Amino acid sequence: MGSVKITFKVDGVETTVEGDKNKTLLDTAIENDIDAPYSCRGGACASCIGRLKSGTVELEQNYILTDSEIDEGLILTCQAYPTSEEIYFDSDDI
Ligand code: FES
Repeated sequence: MGSVKITFKVDGVETTVEGDKNKTLLDTAIENDIDAPYSCRGGACASCIGRLKSGTVELEQNYILTDSEIDEGLILTCQAYPTSEEIYFDSDDI
């Protein structure tokens, strides 16, 4: 099964939803009417940046983040596919 529990924190509001490992965090957020920021959806603008507080993701494309930023937990939701059962993503902590 590819389901995953994802909590988004956006503008101080936490929302937990059931996600899918075959969808990006951003697509899951949009489908659930979560107001996560984005623009290009191509891994290039960093509008969708935020911090992974728990869980793991795989970034499909990344033209912006440095290795050290990734080590600190920064991700691009438009490129991030969940690889763990639970994810906590904080869009405010950047
Ligand atoms: S929306 Fe532009 S990098 Fe994600």
